[in-house]
Amino acid sequence: MVPLFDPKPQHAQVADEVHAQTRAVLDSGQFILGPNVQAFEEEAARFHDLSHGIGVASGTDALHLALLAAGIGPGDEVITSAFSFIAGVEAIFYCGAKPVFVDIREDSMNLDESTIEAAVTERTRAIMPVHLFGLACDMDQIMSVAQRHDLKVIEDCAQAFGARFKDKPVGAFGHAGCFSFFPTKNLGGYGDGGLITTADAVLDEQARVLRNHGSRERYHHHCVGFNSRLDEVQAAALRVKLRHLEDFNQSRRDIAAIYDQGLDGLPLQTPAVPEGCYAVYGQYTVQLDQRDKVREALQEKGIASAIYYPIPLHRQAVCGDEYASISLPVTERVSERCLSLPMFPGMSKDQAEEVIAALWTILT
Ligand SMILES: Cc1ncc(COP(=O)(O)O)c(C=O)c1O
Repeated sequence: MVPLFDPKPQHAQVADEVHAQTRAVLDSGQFILGPNVQAFEEEAARFHDLSHGIGVASGTDALHLALLAAGIGPGDEVITSAFSFIAGVEAIFYCGAKPVFVDIREDSMNLDESTIEAAVTERTRAIMPVHLFGLACDMDQIMSVAQRHDLKVIEDCAQAFGARFKDKPVGAFGHAGCFSFFPTKNLGGYGDGGLITTADAVLDEQARVLRNHGSRERYHHHCVGFNSRLDEVQAAALRVKLRHLEDFNQSRRDIAAIYDQGLDGLPLQTPAVPEGCYAVYGQYTVQLDQRDKVREALQEKGIASAIYYPIPLHRQAVCGDEYASISLPVTERVSERCLSLPMFPGMSKDQAEEVIAALWTILT
């Protein structure tokens, strides 16, 4: 049996420290916006060489509050990828704005940076690149389009904590970086959590007010805000795990290298890593024909896999008819051919080799 994701090996690596730090929070009686949230925000900002980090309740909230704090509102357009999790699009809709989808690149499965400029209209206010599966988008191209058209860039880094583009971590390029601490993520918490990173003091202040009921000072409410705070117990655990993040990501990279080598020669496409990218493999996603049959055959051999994502966002019911006439050929093809293989820190070489052997049996 090889699971898609197993949290136990990484937990075992940090268990003593996490138990000590979370127990100290429980004993302290201070659970909301205490010293651990503040320290984690500072440590996560420092990791990105940025001045500000704002802990929030989830990655979805990070995207929503970052868009609001960047001034995105009704009637605005936000350019993004349709090959992603729904959260980014939900965040755009929450603001009353409209997602405008561009196609993806077949090699990186990230939005095709070269097509963004053609999608800019007079209503475009922001670009939301998604660093999918732990691989950075080409942030040089994205930031230069944004500068030419005076657009905000809100990076969806939910699957890519620690990924780098030209040695700079994702989340440090745009006006805001948005992270998720859902347990399967590169920096996985013990529940839900999220973070916004920014170099912009005004955006930082705005996001802080929004996450805490529109309040700067207790019982003084300046705007309609939200209850979206990272809690102390999560923050204490995340501080420990942040110190081990490079190890966890290296472990994912080691498994990816075993897969790359072991799958070479099979009729499938392994994930490309464009020049200048340091990938952290939030997922290891291959592309192949007869994906559903292969998935079933793997399942019969006790190997889990997942389809991220079977229905592109422009084809989701929630988007209504508005996108019915739009065609994104690469997105549509990749969503029919993508298959994510088991990937998690502490996964053993034997487990990776079991997956490889099964694919050789199935595909040859
Ligand atoms: C690309 C992407 N964006 C945003 C999110 C939302 O994060 P959360 O589940 O913490 O709200 C996820 C989570 O799965 C994601 O994969």
